Amino acid sequence: MVIFRKADDVQQYLSKAEQPVGYIPTMGALHAGHTSLIGQARADGRLTVCSIFINPTQFNDPEDFRLYPISTEADIALLLQAGCDVLFLPDEHAVYPQGTGMATSYNFGALESVLEGAQRPGHFRGVGQVVGRLLEIIRPRYLYMGQKDFQQCRVIGKLLELMGRDGETELIVCPTVREDDGLAMSSRNRRLTEPQRALASVIYQCLVSIQSKVGSLPFAVVQKECMELLKQKGFDPEYVELADAETLELLPDYDMSRKMVALIAARLGKVRLIDNMLIEPTEA
Ligand code: PAJ
Repeated sequence: MVIFRKADDVQQYLSKAEQPVGYIPTMGALHAGHTSLIGQARADGRLTVCSIFINPTQFNDPEDFRLYPISTEADIALLLQAGCDVLFLPDEHAVYPQGTGMATSYNFGALESVLEGAQRPGHFRGVGQVVGRLLEIIRPRYLYMGQKDFQQCRVIGKLLELMGRDGETELIVCPTVREDDGLAMSSRNRRLTEPQRALASVIYQCLVSIQSKVGSLPFAVVQKECMELLKQKGFDPEYVELADAETLELLPDYDMSRKMVALIAARLGKVRLIDNMLIEPTEA
């Protein structure tokens, strides 16, 4: 694996690449969810390029930024094991040479103001800004991202359109990797205490219950049950919602004429967890 810290260096190296580039942007503290993206890119025959950069502009909560886990040495070991070809490890100046205020900010309209956007104002502006910059540097043919961050995938799909890159870079959304009890893998899981970790899979259980009640209960009833259960288990739930999987328009009830996704955000102690599940119509 070759490691670059400067934008010009990685760009020059990739300009000579013979295979199409498959790019996996990350913020480090890597786990099997991240390496599954590398595995998919490799299986697809791409030259795999991963970046690790904790982007300050997407953290609406300074405490979350301060506490974001850093484990660069372990990350490098995991990337070597996963067969990653190139690691881009920039500092803030390499990503934002003119300062964070000068990087282009994209407007994602309704996509940036619902769900995560409503709870974390400015978050998707920051994500769009950094992914926009990283795409200018890496110029990948394929961009691999996880369904775990469902709304982020929709925002980045829109970003490719706004940047006029939709013909050049194809977004590949890969399935969420889970722990044995269903908890979606996340770098933030490291901050859970042992008792919190034991409870954390309740979010996944709620998603399963939203799927299992399709056609038998109104969503509003299931939503209320999930909110209650989360509170009873000690979570501070932010939302339990059903949305159109393409537009993320919130749906008041199950709607079999659309592709649907259920999304949950809840705090457990100081840790904020999110998860989602595509909701399939049941056989009549
Ligand atoms: P980060 O949270 O490090 O995630 C990097 C990529 O890994 C994202 O595409 C995310 O959806 C994916 N991922 C995380 N957990 C996953 C899991 N359990 N299963 C499958 N994929 C998973 O998302 C970001 O970083 C940042 O916002 C970033 C896009 C890098 C911009 O700063």
